[in-house]
Amino acid sequence: MKALILTCLAVAAALAADQATLDRGQKEESRSCMPCHSLRLIHSQRLSKAAWNKELDKMTGWGTKIQDREALLEYLLANYGDDKPASPPATSRDGSK
Ligand code: HEC
Repeated sequence: MKALILTCLAVAAALAADQATLDRGQKEESRSCMPCHSLRLIHSQRLSKAAWNKELDKMTGWGTKIQDREALLEYLLANYGDDKPASPPATSRDGSK
């Protein structure tokens, strides 16, 4: 029973850490990715980890200063990984998106 409780605590801690990382990644995105283009350009992608890494290299090459790259990568992969459903097509600028 004690082992079970400890396991549950460990799992809960791992999940909490993960969410914190994702939150940090999202913050990093709004801090470092928005000066040049809209987030739609990012959020419409569905990329593998390797492809996101390459993308971050490319943006860095163009002058993007990324401070928390690990968290950003995890956030991008969790939300816009290539295992996620395709994003809805871009619609008219009626403010709905
Ligand atoms: C210094 C300016 C700049 C910053 C900052 C920047 N980008 Fe870009 N990004 C560009 C340009 C320029 C393009 C090409 C736009 C186009 O093709 O219309 C682009 C395009 C993209 C694309 C579309 C695919 C591609 O390679 O053309 C993705 C995805 C992307 N950026 C992700 C990011 C992410 C993630 C960040 C934050 C880490 C970021 N960008 C920050 C300049 C920037």
